[in-house]
Amino acid sequence: MKKVWWKESVVYQIYPRSFCDSNGDGIGDLKGITGKLDYLQKLGINIIWLSPVYKSPNDDNGYDIADYQEIMEEFGTMEDFDELLTEAHQRGIRIVMDLVVNHTSDEHAWFVESRSSRDNDKRDFYIWREAKDGKEPNNWGSCFSGPAWQWDETTQMYYLHCFSKKQPDLNWDNPAVRDKVFEMMTWWCEKGIDGFRMDVISMISKPEGLPDGPVAEGALYADSGITCNGPHVHEYLREMNRRVLSKYDIMTVGETAGVTVEEAKKYANAEGTELNMVFQFEHVGLDGGGADKWAKNKISIPALKANLTKWQKELAQVAWNSIFFCNHDQPRVVSRLGDDSPESAKCIATMLHMMQGTPYVYQGEEIGMTNCPFGPIENYRDIESINAYRELTEAGLREPEELLSCIAYKSRDNARTPMQWDDSENAGFTTGTPWIMVNPNYRQINVKSALADEDSVFYYYRKLIRLRRSSEWSEVIVYGDYDLLLPEDEAVFAYTRSLNGRRLLVLCNLSSDSVKIALPAEAAAEPKALLITNMPDPPKLAVSMKLSGWQCAVYEI
Ligand code: NOJ
Repeated sequence: MKKVWWKESVVYQIYPRSFCDSNGDGIGDLKGITGKLDYLQKLGINIIWLSPVYKSPNDDNGYDIADYQEIMEEFGTMEDFDELLTEAHQRGIRIVMDLVVNHTSDEHAWFVESRSSRDNDKRDFYIWREAKDGKEPNNWGSCFSGPAWQWDETTQMYYLHCFSKKQPDLNWDNPAVRDKVFEMMTWWCEKGIDGFRMDVISMISKPEGLPDGPVAEGALYADSGITCNGPHVHEYLREMNRRVLSKYDIMTVGETAGVTVEEAKKYANAEGTELNMVFQFEHVGLDGGGADKWAKNKISIPALKANLTKWQKELAQVAWNSIFFCNHDQPRVVSRLGDDSPESAKCIATMLHMMQGTPYVYQGEEIGMTNCPFGPIENYRDIESINAYRELTEAGLREPEELLSCIAYKSRDNARTPMQWDDSENAGFTTGTPWIMVNPNYRQINVKSALADEDSVFYYYRKLIRLRRSSEWSEVIVYGDYDLLLPEDEAVFAYTRSLNGRRLLVLCNLSSDSVKIALPAEAAAEPKALLITNMPDPPKLAVSMKLSGWQCAVYEI
């Protein structure tokens, strides 16, 4: 397998709005991030994925961009950005920008022009359609509730928005749109940034004729999944690769909702004609996904193993994957798969970080930050959660209390509460009033106390990152073959990684009960080394052995 830096790296995702506020306005900012680079260097990551920092009216916290070449006022200035980039580079940390080009804000100059008249030269930058029988042109729903179409009074037509009505979809079939996007990307590359994370890039090519889609039970509209992996998506990405990406030594990761393994092999093909890696969601959909998002099903461990194993095996040698459980759209894994305890945080991290793919750590994950007890819907800020609550309760499809308990479990806001830096007021995030509530557990869970405790989740993550990036086992961890053991076991995730005659054994008990397992004899011999474990007494390898609740260990065997 070809060796490259982005396979050997660990990414840290920053959601700037909630990371660190340097000027007391209650909103995180770029100077706040620059001030924490030493902390990130200490953790050992070498790439930052910066969620959007561009000018935006913030209907979707920056995923609605009004100007791709300006910084959001609340976050600072372009000088602040340049300083962040320089300071990060000085510490050996690269910066990957969020590229949101499936849609813009309705306040972007292109859309302002586009909507001004039917014959404006930017009209075709977006997807406009006549009404059909006095209604929307098709039955697609927006990912944020309601129809995916908005009626525009001025020109008496509908425009398509797969997300909020302030996020009109760009028309990628128009070559002038592609020219403009590629020009803008080139501008950022010339500035010296180190890559792009591409927002819902699998949705840029809409199906021919925009046909109606199937409406799932309990839903009001067709799922916009119908727009994933459209007819020209690979053609457009190959064009992007030819015209921009191939000219720079950068990392590219496609957020590829609705991607299958077969599609992923194209997006992230090893020949490098499209993107470096996919970021896909099958495993985080196992407790309810898609139209079923507001469900609270327990994740079945055998199903999780089968799913992650499928991706490990199928992409090996031919494509590259991201490894994650947390990001700004997902609830906290320690509350979802774990039981909020530091042991469960460490165990889950081990299960992920020993796999093949590029790992992503989401801010706060490295100190075991948990879901937040928001309480009433008024305490939420996320457009997706708020709209879903309104739509589903008003339509009588869900009972308010029951739905609220699912939102409490699944809402994206769980990931967006302020980073917990210390035990002072507002967790040291701001001296002002935070834009979203702080998780009340900040007095126990915060960076300051994590740094003072050598057994903390933070130091455990640091060790995992070191093992991957700079240890005698790095090559095996990054490039080794993956093989699952004990596929049927209800609690234990066990697998091996092998390369050139060396072999690692990973054992993770993903339950709070102690369990017995039966290992194959060749895995149970006296280990050559213990790489990492999360409890004082490491489990003793044997054909028949016991693991305590949330216990994990990695051996060289
Ligand atoms: C995916 C992003 O991760 C999410 O936060 C955003 O709301 C949508 N794309 C729309 O840009």
